[in-house]
Amino acid sequence: MSNVTFLSGENIPLEMHKVRMVQKINLLPIEKRLQCMKEAGFNTFLLKNRDVFLDMLTDSGVNAMSENQYAAMMQADDSYAGSETFYRLESTLQDIFGMKYFLPTHQGRACENIIAQTMVKPGTTALMNFHFTTTKAHITLMGGNVEEIISDEGLKIQSNALFKGDVDICKLNEAITRLGKEKIAFMRIEAGTNLVGGQPVSMSNMREVSRICRENGIPLVYDASLLSDNLYFIKVRDKKYKNIDIKEITREIASLMDVVYFSARKLGSARGGGMLLSDEKLFLKMRELVPLFEGFLTYGGMSVREMEAMTVGMQETLDIDVISQTPIFVEALCNELLSKGIPVVTPPGGLGCHVDATQFCSHIPQTQYRAGALAAATFIASGVRGMERGTMSEQRNDDGSEQFSEMELLRLAVPKRVFTLSQVKYTADRIAWLFNNRHLIGGLEFTEEPKVLRFFFGRLKPIGNWTHELIEQFRKDFGDSL
Ligand SMILES: Cc1ncc(COP(=O)(O)O)c(C=O)c1O
Repeated sequence: MSNVTFLSGENIPLEMHKVRMVQKINLLPIEKRLQCMKEAGFNTFLLKNRDVFLDMLTDSGVNAMSENQYAAMMQADDSYAGSETFYRLESTLQDIFGMKYFLPTHQGRACENIIAQTMVKPGTTALMNFHFTTTKAHITLMGGNVEEIISDEGLKIQSNALFKGDVDICKLNEAITRLGKEKIAFMRIEAGTNLVGGQPVSMSNMREVSRICRENGIPLVYDASLLSDNLYFIKVRDKKYKNIDIKEITREIASLMDVVYFSARKLGSARGGGMLLSDEKLFLKMRELVPLFEGFLTYGGMSVREMEAMTVGMQETLDIDVISQTPIFVEALCNELLSKGIPVVTPPGGLGCHVDATQFCSHIPQTQYRAGALAAATFIASGVRGMERGTMSEQRNDDGSEQFSEMELLRLAVPKRVFTLSQVKYTADRIAWLFNNRHLIGGLEFTEEPKVLRFFFGRLKPIGNWTHELIEQFRKDFGDSL
C-alpha cells in the first residue's frame, strides 16, 4: 500500500511485511484431488485441510498474525473472572470505537444470536443492506423476517459504483412507510458486504441511514466483521477521507450506530467476537444472555490468549499497511482474471475475488448449483479451495422449493497476509484453464441435505461423468504436472 512507484509502471501489490514463520502445504495430483472431493461430498467445507493446496475458503480465523500478537498471547492473565486480559481488550475497543459498553462473545454469530433474542419479535422485520447466512438464520429462528434494501448497483456483477454495499435510501423510506416503524426490529448495515462480493458502504450513506433511523426510533446495528476492508475503501475511494486517520474514521462510523458487533475471526486477525453499545438499557438486556450462551462476562467463551491477540490485532487494524494487504491482493487476482476474460465482481472488493458462476457456468441450471459446481471443479483443477456463495448457501422455502440466490459466486478468499503473489498467479492460471474448458463442468445434486445452513455440511454428487472428463482434459493439456 505504501506509496511505491515501479520503474516498469506496473501496479504490483507490494507486501509491507516479511514472512518469518511458514507452514508446508501439499499439492496432490489431480486424480487424488478428485478422490478427496468425492470423499468430501463435493462440498469444499468438508475437505480436509491436509488435502488442500491454497485454502481460499475464507479469511475467518486464518489471517496471519503478527509477532506482536503472538508475544501478547504469552502474557495473558488466565482467570475466570476479572482477568487483566479482558480489561486490556475492553479499554482498547472502547478507545477505538468510542463506545461505552463492551460484551465479549465466542464469535460473530454469537452476537447475532444475542441481538436476535433481544431485538427480534415474531412478525417483525430486520432491514439490511444485505443478509449474511448466520445473521438471517438467527433472525428467522426468532420468527422475524429479513428484507434487503441494497442499492441496485450492489446486485450488478460489473459496475463502476465505488460503494456497492450502500443502502438504497428510497427503499429504506418505502419499507418504513409500508411496514410501520414499530414493526421494524432494527436496521442492519454490514461493512464490506460479504455476499455481494465484499463491497464497501460509504460514509455518506451510513450517515443518511443513521439520520433516518434516529428520526424514526429504529435501532441501527452495524456488522463490523469486515470493517478493516471497508475502512481501507473509505480512505482510498472517498476523497474527503484521504487524509483522515483510520481511528477517526472508525469512531465516526461508530458514532452513527446503536450496536456494533463483529467476528474477531475476521476483524483483528484472532478468533472471537464482541459487541459494543452506547445505550445502557440495551446493554443490560444483552448482558443477561452472555453468561447463558457464551461464558462469564470477562471472557465470553474466548481464551485469554485469543483476547490478547485480538487486542493487538485491533490496534494493528489502524495501520493502513496492515488493512490494505487483502484489498490490493484481491485487486491483483481480479485483474489477472479479467485480463483473461473471466467474469468477476467489479470493482474488486475486500475479502476475496468473486468469480461470477452465472456467466462462467451459464450452461448449468441454477437448480444444479452452478457456483457449488464451479467450487468443486476449481478444487479438482487446482487444489485451491474456494467457497460457494449462491443458491447452496440459501435455505429452502417452507414449501420445499429452492430460494434462488440473486448472485451465484465462487469466492476465493484472500486471508490477510497469508499468500504470496506467485500463489495468486497460480490460482488465476488454473481458473483460466477451467474457463477455457468450462463446457466440461457439470451440475451437482444433494445426497444429504440439512435443513438449516445446508452449505456447511450437506453432501452432493456430480450429475453425470463430468469430473472424469475434466481430468482427461487436464492430463492432455498439462501432461504429468501437478
Ligand atoms: C459479515 C459477517 N457477519 C457475521 C459473520 C459470522 O461470524 P463468525 O463466523 O465469527 O460466527 C461472518 C462470518 O463469516 C461475516 O462474514
